Amino acid sequence: MLRRTAAAAAALSAPYWLPKAVVALRVKVFAVVNGPEGIVVPNAQVPPERFAELYAHPAANGRSKGAGLSDLFWYWLSPGPEVHQEHLEPGPRYTAVARTTSELLSGPSAELSAAATRCAAAVLDELAPGEVTLVRLRDLMMPVWAEFFYEMVFREPCPPRARRLIVDNAEDVINSLKNTRLRHLDRRERLTRYLLGRLAAGDVPHELPAELATPLDRAHYLQGTFFNTAVVQMSEAMAHLLLVLATHPDLQRELAAADPDDDRVLGNVMNETFRMYPLFGIAHRITTADIDLGDGVTFPAGTVLCFDYPSYHATGYTDPEVFDPGRWDRISAKDAHHIPFGVAANRPCPAWRLAPLIMRAATREVLRRYTLHSSVSHSRSMPHRGPALLVRRGHRLPTGARPAALALLKLRDRWEDTGRSLLQLGLGTWMVTRARRDRMAETWFGSHDTEGAPLAAATATTATAPPPGCPYHRPDGA
Ligand code: HEM
Repeated sequence: MLRRTAAAAAALSAPYWLPKAVVALRVKVFAVVNGPEGIVVPNAQVPPERFAELYAHPAANGRSKGAGLSDLFWYWLSPGPEVHQEHLEPGPRYTAVARTTSELLSGPSAELSAAATRCAAAVLDELAPGEVTLVRLRDLMMPVWAEFFYEMVFREPCPPRARRLIVDNAEDVINSLKNTRLRHLDRRERLTRYLLGRLAAGDVPHELPAELATPLDRAHYLQGTFFNTAVVQMSEAMAHLLLVLATHPDLQRELAAADPDDDRVLGNVMNETFRMYPLFGIAHRITTADIDLGDGVTFPAGTVLCFDYPSYHATGYTDPEVFDPGRWDRISAKDAHHIPFGVAANRPCPAWRLAPLIMRAATREVLRRYTLHSSVSHSRSMPHRGPALLVRRGHRLPTGARPAALALLKLRDRWEDTGRSLLQLGLGTWMVTRARRDRMAETWFGSHDTEGAPLAAATATTATAPPPGCPYHRPDGA
């Protein structure tokens, strides 16, 4: 009887303890599969005060070659990880690619904001037309950014078919990164084929870097940078921001009362959201020469440095665990431990100016139409995709309906979290094991130099005997 009662109590309380236990187990399993790698900073040797100095060190500039972690990221960001800007080693090819990305992302602020407003309005009209709509915020935002970045790349309105391909691709990338689904390369390759067709037809009105040697390289560059990273990051960032607003009705009221031309309150909320929920957990670099920071702190060439954003963002603040947008009235982002877009001296995000601008525009469009309500948990990885209720402004819910809906949402969230944590453990272990088996980055650098040119010896080998199922087999034969 006692045993049965204990088992029933354990089962009923599972949502309160199981997800945390499973996450801890997942971290341990990944560490065992991956083997020991990387020095995570900040740490005792490199305190938070020296974090940015190490990150900005000129020798902390290797990106993919020589780190087992790269195999994981290449697996998740396939196809074409070898030409994704994030993964390119420094050199002429990286410089050309980074310049092209920056050029594509630039433009007059007013035009960029207007485009974001227009894309948000169209998608909201289509997907949340009613008085009350239950949504997952990330799912709601993804088509917005699919349309926005399609327009940026093709300079024309986004047709529904292209939007579907982009959303399928971006969803597959982020779901597999979060271990909530397995990777489906066929979905991603449908987009690659579409981009190859558009490139062949001369439909991309931008000069792409000559350093990207083949049409497939160019298609993969567009796919990786604009239809993976840009769409995924913007959707995640917006889901965090809107979930913060949905769980802080006081902030929504403050924003509604503020002058629409005054960005102070929204800017503070965005800074605090980026601080507490940075999109990067860890960014890694491989040192390409010895680093000597003085005081006996040295790192030999080939060290894998893991820059831990959440830990860094949790230092140097009063009550760092408290969500307090008002702190940004008292401190300045440039003097704080605040690097939501990376560090300026070492490959920062090329969208550091664009992203906040278009986030503000899209957020204002959402808030102009709806009030947002949610009671779900909020973590940096946000695997639940931000469940929330959108209630059209001016619509009055029946008495008691809102608290009842929020109570149900919370209950569902707890139970979903329990099942999902087990799923993530299983799928994550499977994918990490596959990535270690495939060793995509290691295989690539075994046969190519850091500019992507085949190594002489490797060319001779692969010319006679291409490895079966080689992940770099190219449909165009290049
Ligand atoms: C709010 C949204 C975004 C956030 C918070 C964000 C954050 C970051 C961070 C922290 C890094 C640097 C990581 C490192 O040091 O390795 C980064 C790199 C990068 N981001 Fe973003 N990002 C966002 C949106 C975008 C968008 C819209 C694009 C569009 C193309 C983009 C493209 C890239 C690329 C290509 C890199 C690699 C840069 C390089 O290695 O040269 N990001 N991002």
